Amino acid sequence: MANWEELERRCLGCQKCALADTRTHVVFGKGPRDAKIMFVGEGPGENEDLQGEPFVGRGGQLLDEMLGLVGLSREKNFYITNIVKCRPPKNRDPLNTEQDACIGYLWEQMELIRPKIVVCLGRIAAMRLIKPDYRITKEHGQWEEKDGVLYTAIYHPAALLRDPTKKPDTFADLREIRAKIRELCPEAYG
Ligand code: URA
Repeated sequence: MANWEELERRCLGCQKCALADTRTHVVFGKGPRDAKIMFVGEGPGENEDLQGEPFVGRGGQLLDEMLGLVGLSREKNFYITNIVKCRPPKNRDPLNTEQDACIGYLWEQMELIRPKIVVCLGRIAAMRLIKPDYRITKEHGQWEEKDGVLYTAIYHPAALLRDPTKKPDTFADLREIRAKIRELCPEAYG
């Protein structure tokens, strides 16, 4: 099994797909490496590409605010990353071939972290990590167990910025996530 330093070095130098040609930074992930909870988005946007950190744009600010309300922060108790680690041009959805090339890095991150709970941010991550025909409007907030890890999905923060009427559903999902954390890994809340 890889260690963090070796994995990060490999990922930062990755040339496995064409996104390597247009990226400014590889966006590896952020947060405590012993977190019990992981959040996974689809891929870096412009701000993330420029800064090398996941979810640092307007969507990221909204996400941090909402997660803060249920006691979660990337400084303290969750790790956050993406399905693809390099920005797709013009923020298009990552292609399946790009996801296939990149997903191994996420599996290695999960092997090292061994999270109890994985929260997919939006449809693309849910389709990749939960099931290919995942319907975010119907299935957000539901739980799915795979190999001893509990998965759920919430709306992507960009979707909440576009349509704030979705926020109450996301708050309800986050309260359920908080309850599940208290049940499965209360130590995450210190
Ligand atoms: N959207 C994502 O899915 N991930 C990011 O890191 C930023 C925006």
